[in-house]
Amino acid sequence: MNSIQLQDYIRDIPDFPKPGILFKDITPLLADSAAFEAAIDQMAAHYEGKQIDVIVAAEARGFIFAAPLALKLGVGFVPVRKPGKLPFSTHSFSYELEYGTDTLEMHIDGVAEGQNVLLVDDLLATGGTIKACANLVEKIGATVTGCCFLIELKFLDGAAKVAPHECFSLIEY
Ligand code: PRP
Repeated sequence: MNSIQLQDYIRDIPDFPKPGILFKDITPLLADSAAFEAAIDQMAAHYEGKQIDVIVAAEARGFIFAAPLALKLGVGFVPVRKPGKLPFSTHSFSYELEYGTDTLEMHIDGVAEGQNVLLVDDLLATGGTIKACANLVEKIGATVTGCCFLIELKFLDGAAKVAPHECFSLIEY
């Protein structure tokens, strides 16, 4: 099914969630099993033959791509969540937003020292979220092997924030 153009399944929503923002809505892609499967297959193909032990992704939209990709690659999935959601002991990492800060948490035993970790999310915008995930992984002494996205907003230059880690995305704007 190489004829599927993934960008045809992304819907532009003007002025969401705030005036002036053009929101990239992924729900049409998720609603189409062939398009969704094509996205996961293309992600998996990029990492074929690379050493990956586990996938880490942040809630909520990151989970949607991370879980099927983990199954496809035959590795485990470790969730990164907003504060207070994880039941066991956690590492946390706070990062700057345009106004204020945000914090993400991961179980202390989610990833083991020395493991190779693939970070996954639906969208790379400023890079703050994926950088926070990378910091959590590196805090444990594991290695970030790459960062995989459905969509990258190139004009926000999030990849520069995440460097030197490789960013791979299926759709660029
Ligand atoms: C969105 C998106 C990414 C992040 C990208 O998540 O799913 O995780 O923003 O932006 P960044 O590169 O500037 O960090 P959001 O925080 O809206 O949470 P959600 O997935 O729960 O909707």
